[in-house]
Amino acid sequence: MPVRPAIQGIDGPEPLGRALREAQYVADEGLATAAYLALALGKPLLLEGAPGVGKTEAAKALASVLGRELVRLQCYEGIDAAAAVYDWNFPRQMLAIRQAGETWVNLYADEFLIARPLLLTLQAPRDRVLLIDEIDRADPEFEAFLLEFLSDFTISIPERGTVRAAEPPVVVLTSNRTRELHEALRRRCVYHWIGWPDPALEAQIVTMRASSVAQETARRVVAAVGRLRAEPLAKPPGVAETVEWAQAATLLNAQGTPWPAAFARAIGVVLKDEDDLAFVRPRIEALIGGQAA
Ligand SMILES: Nc1ncnc2c1ncn2[C@@H]1O[C@H](COP(=O)(O)OP(=O)(O)OP(=O)(O)O)[C@@H](O)[C@H]1O
Ligand SMILES: [Mg+2]
Repeated sequence: MPVRPAIQGIDGPEPLGRALREAQYVADEGLATAAYLALALGKPLLLEGAPGVGKTEAAKALASVLGRELVRLQCYEGIDAAAAVYDWNFPRQMLAIRQAGETWVNLYADEFLIARPLLLTLQAPRDRVLLIDEIDRADPEFEAFLLEFLSDFTISIPERGTVRAAEPPVVVLTSNRTRELHEALRRRCVYHWIGWPDPALEAQIVTMRASSVAQETARRVVAAVGRLRAEPLAKPPGVAETVEWAQAATLLNAQGTPWPAAFARAIGVVLKDEDDLAFVRPRIEALIGGQAA
């Protein structure tokens, strides 16, 4: 298996972890290692985890660390090659034919080709990071098509020939695991399951992302969110909700709402489901703890 000695000066999981942190992303050792190995081995990185654990953000941070543009393919039911690979600009082709009159027009020239994320990535693999986001939402047929793409990084355009990447591009796939992905797809990738960050890391994320928040506030919000995630909620709070809760409560407190009431008043930034709110409201004091922050 070919190993790239160092990717743009990143020569191990620890340097990559530090670089991600500078890009405002806190990666634990497991994620930094998986991401480093994917880069070094030229393999796609497959990230699975609950909504809001930081999968999409990890890809963004990786692109930022590498100084590359992030090209995102958001998957959905029914997504097809025209949305993912390329399409022909039909109205423009028609216009060109009309304007040309009797003259011959090459309808498959560059100006009529609309490159979608997969083709865009192959065209400049050194300048781009491809994010195939929420692959579990796509149909199994599309997954099979992707499998081929990820195996040889080539795209065949019948009217134009084959486009081949000069080197394996950096690819990140994410899945919320709403369905199992095909074994063959997993085998192509370096896999990492992103769990909820441990409390110390999540508190670091809060203070990194929201500089107005005091350490003690961050610690209490993280503890409360941890308790919320253990409850049978329809929509457990993600990391973004933790950050926003700490920020919102800090704002309300600065405007005169005392602790811990500020936490309770800001609950609408954490829970966005009426049943969840009805369940949590009577327990909110216990969740947050009674002392001043
Ligand atoms: N490890 C982290 N370091 C810094 N910020 C983080 C981290 N994890 C999550 N966040 C914050 O949480 C937000 C939500 O993360 P993100 O959108 O990446 O989650 P996701 O796993 O892709 O969720 P979904 O499955 O709903 O798309 C990010 O915008 C970021 O602000
Ligand atoms: Mg996401």
